Amino acid sequence: MSELRLLAEGIAREAGALLRQSFRDPDLRVSAKSTPTDLVSEADHAAEHLIRTRLSEARPDDGVLGEEGGDVEGTSGIRWVVDPLDGTVNFLFGVPQWAVSIAAEDADGTVVGVVYDPERDELFSAVRGGPATLDGREITGSTKQDLPTALVGTGFGYDSEVRRSQAVVVAKLLPEVRDIRRFGAAAIDLAWTAAGRLDAYYEHGLNPWDLAAGGLICECAGLEVRHVPPVGVSNPGVIVGPPTLVDALAGHLA
Ligand code: IPD
Ligand code: CA
Ligand code: CA
Ligand code: CA
Repeated sequence: MSELRLLAEGIAREAGALLRQSFRDPDLRVSAKSTPTDLVSEADHAAEHLIRTRLSEARPDDGVLGEEGGDVEGTSGIRWVVDPLDGTVNFLFGVPQWAVSIAAEDADGTVVGVVYDPERDELFSAVRGGPATLDGREITGSTKQDLPTALVGTGFGYDSEVRRSQAVVVAKLLPEVRDIRRFGAAAIDLAWTAAGRLDAYYEHGLNPWDLAAGGLICECAGLEVRHVPPVGVSNPGVIVGPPTLVDALAGHLA
């Protein structure tokens, strides 16, 4: 599996370099997808095209699920799950908080996860069963037990009904924790949780390409990744962190 990791790391770096060329380009073509707040640009499409091209050159029999290009079935038993540009809104506002997220999964789940943050040149990765790493050095998540001192990350999808119900949850949580962060790129949020920069992370309605790589990196960093039922009208959610904190957060969401 480490050969899959090397492949994903190389492709994520190449896509990151491509994206940096159009970061803060005022002429980038942008359109709305599911809602007016759900933006996609030609940079998202170009990065996904590059990633799919490199994957099919190296491993033509693998499947690929990508945010912008949909699901293409393969025959090898490996499927790549790709977010070519996580944090599109940040990217389009010139906020240097966006990433490339590439995971590979087999019949048992995610086997490789890579999150590359081009603006900081930080590469987070993991292979199932191994350690999580940041630029090759092992990282471990928070061991905090105590919700009132926990720094908790969150994020919001694009559906306004989901946002409304999640806002209720976040309002309830805010007085119970040290603070809440919303940085705007779930893959980086998860990678930072794996590195202990956040104690825990919670979001309802993440898509597979937001969660696949970062979720594995968190597990390999010793954290629990717990899927939780919908709140109100929202999609299922995820809580990531040390198990005691995940329990405490799940209690507040219930
Ligand atoms: C979004 C970002 C955001 C998260 C949303 C995602 P995109 O991904 O990760 O932080 O809160 O749920 O959809 O659209 O920028 O790739
Ligand atoms: Ca998107
Ligand atoms: Ca995303
Ligand atoms: Ca994206």
